[in-house]
Amino acid sequence: MIGRRGVVFPPLPRRPGDGKMAAIRSLKGLVGVISGGASGLGRATVERLIGQGASAVILDLPSSEGASVAKTLGDRCAFAPADVTSETDVRNAVSMAKEQFGRLDIAVNCAGIAVAVKTYNFKKDLPHSLEDFQRVINVNIAGTFNVIRLAVGEMGKNEPDSDGHRGVIINTASVAAFDGQVGQAAYSASKGGIVGMTLPIARDLAPMGIRVVTIAPGLFATPLLAGLPEKVQTFLARQVPFPSRLGNPAEYAHLVQAIVENPMLNGQVGPGLPFDHD
Ligand SMILES: NC(=O)c1ccc[n+]([C@@H]2O[C@H](COP(=O)([O-])OP(=O)(O)OC[C@H]3O[C@@H](n4cnc5c(N)ncnc54)[C@H](O)[C@@H]3O)[C@@H](O)[C@H]2O)c1
Repeated sequence: MIGRRGVVFPPLPRRPGDGKMAAIRSLKGLVGVISGGASGLGRATVERLIGQGASAVILDLPSSEGASVAKTLGDRCAFAPADVTSETDVRNAVSMAKEQFGRLDIAVNCAGIAVAVKTYNFKKDLPHSLEDFQRVINVNIAGTFNVIRLAVGEMGKNEPDSDGHRGVIINTASVAAFDGQVGQAAYSASKGGIVGMTLPIARDLAPMGIRVVTIAPGLFATPLLAGLPEKVQTFLARQVPFPSRLGNPAEYAHLVQAIVENPMLNGQVGPGLPFDHD
């Protein structure tokens, strides 16, 4: 195994009972709550969970497509109309997982919003709206934290597996947390907040066997981006060094599955940028 700074660790000595380690988990029979599950990356995640034999509660706004998506996916999927910033709404979604599917093992935070506004418009002598800034921070950071703090209460009731594992939280930051562009002050700050809270929350929850991992996606072809003109989409795709295209939401969902299955991923943010920027 290669550690940080390229140090090569010798293999660990075998201990009695090593063969019984929990290792790879299967999604079959697990139950997840997915915020923003009615669209884009969240929806692809819901579809992946259902396809792998798990059950899923879509936590999304009442105005979203959540009800029809859940209906299409069948009995192992339910819709909880909810705003991630509301304590009552999120409590209801967590209760729905328990009441309809018996438990809660996974929470994936995909609900998120963005604005694209410069800090100051000097032509119009107009500062960035403080209300817009606060709204993005509230939905993306407080909303993510609200889902985490309420979901883990339910996960803590699970019988631990042989590793002591009770559940997993997966958050969605963005490449903008590290490489924000013009007009992304609010969005980048909100995603940086999600990156920043990943490790302390993982440390808080480690004694209960609940892992926390944050995905920082690059550009993905979701309704968020599909609304842009074809020319802009092609331009954005060309900025990606390799592969030079927008990601498919199914590829994000595949990573969610890998994180759930692999108990050695915890307290981390990835994959981040394709390579280091100087
Ligand atoms: N698409 C990309 O290229 C990309 C890149 C990096 C990060 N992300 C992040 O991934 C996440 C998903 O993005 P997407 O592209 O799938 O967007 P999307 O707009 O397709 O889906 C977002 C979903 O979140 C829901 N939502 C918004 N506010 C909510 C609230 N207050 N309560 C509950 N649900 C709410 C929306 O109704 C929608 O269904 C977001 O956090 C986004 O910032 C996306």
